[in-house]
Amino acid sequence: MTPDSYGDFHYRGKKLFCGDVCIEDIAHQFGTPVYIYSAGHFRDQYSAFTKAFKKIPHRIFYAVKSNANLSVIREFHQLGAGMDVNSEGEMLRAMKAGVKGNEMILTGVGKSAAEIRAGLEQGVTMIKAESKDELALIDRIAGEMGLTAPVAIRVNPDVNPRTHPYISTGLSENKFGISKPLALNIYKNYQEFPNIRFTGIDMHIGSQITATAPFKEAVDKLAEVYFEVKRGGLHLEHFDIGGGIGIRYEDETPFTPDGLASVISPTLKELDCDIFFEPGRYLTGNGGILVVKVLYIKEAEDKHFIVTDGAMNDLLRPSIYDAYHHVQPLTLRDQPEVVTDVVGPVCESGDFFTRKRALQTPEHNELLAVMSAGAYGMVMSSNYNARRRVPEVMVDGNKFRLIRSRETYDHLLYDEADLLNGNSI
Ligand SMILES: Cc1ncc(COP(=O)(O)O)c(C=O)c1O
Repeated sequence: MTPDSYGDFHYRGKKLFCGDVCIEDIAHQFGTPVYIYSAGHFRDQYSAFTKAFKKIPHRIFYAVKSNANLSVIREFHQLGAGMDVNSEGEMLRAMKAGVKGNEMILTGVGKSAAEIRAGLEQGVTMIKAESKDELALIDRIAGEMGLTAPVAIRVNPDVNPRTHPYISTGLSENKFGISKPLALNIYKNYQEFPNIRFTGIDMHIGSQITATAPFKEAVDKLAEVYFEVKRGGLHLEHFDIGGGIGIRYEDETPFTPDGLASVISPTLKELDCDIFFEPGRYLTGNGGILVVKVLYIKEAEDKHFIVTDGAMNDLLRPSIYDAYHHVQPLTLRDQPEVVTDVVGPVCESGDFFTRKRALQTPEHNELLAVMSAGAYGMVMSSNYNARRRVPEVMVDGNKFRLIRSRETYDHLLYDEADLLNGNSI
């Protein structure tokens, strides 16, 4: 186990801090498990991104799916970000946080008619279409509403992003986007959709990408389509690169926004349109941790387990992607290390945060931090095993505040209790 710094989370002496706040103080006030975020890290990441692309006319649409807490959305909105919303629910959350319809783009591979209608009602900047079938539906709904829908086609550039197969989206075998020839055909015959204005072209090749080469390859392929569409007489107003920028979970050495800019800017500068980005994980991933408490220490002949009060329902990534999350103590105690599995109380063998990892020999009630949990953490949590979703706390400098409270058992019963007695809710 190496004590480590991630973003704003670092040791001061023997104690883990976020900014100027000792994490233990937060855990004592709000209990565990608890998600803790750093507003400072969110700001730093956002500003590194915008600075890297300052010479290119661009807009950042924060991918709300990575962390949909209202205060997190508001933080990015206040920095100037628009929102990439993947569902009507995300759109509602963004609106609740103060985001206007025309500051959002509506994405998602299977949008329902109600979601498309809601997007058009709110006047989103663009709806991203993922199939010809969907284009037909958008066209019909826009016609019924007496509107023209602004649409970008998500092209699948057939590029290998070299990431986990479950988060790779830009290969032709993936369910996402429209192939290059079909996209070209649609742009060419745009009059087939009289209630659609084709405003842009789009891609998103996957997530947790740590090399620039797949971006370069995909951007170049998409630019070919852009220019061919332009030669056909259709001028597109935006070119959307999607998200996907990787972060350090273990020992990865991901590229920086500057590194990405140096590789793709030459192509982007040739385009005569705005560049859109949809980063999620890059902005939020290392801006969050999950703090859990050691409940039990189990030693068998050849195995060692630490059972914590946090579980797979709180942070699913290790269970579904076998994802690495660094686990480190809130207090360093100069103890020898033990090779252990850090697991939760849920009735699944897949309920673990780490396996066979060297950690400081634990003590009962000790607090541990599961690092890099700011993206695809809380948003993927569930009530499995009828566990309540955990609170979220935002640290800003030397202050912290609750931004979501721990669910009560009333939350768990809300949708059913009245129906049990034959009453309507
Ligand atoms: C269309 C789209 N845009 C943006 C993102 C955000 O990706 P990331 O968090 O890797 O930046 C995703 C993630 O799945 C996505 O599907």
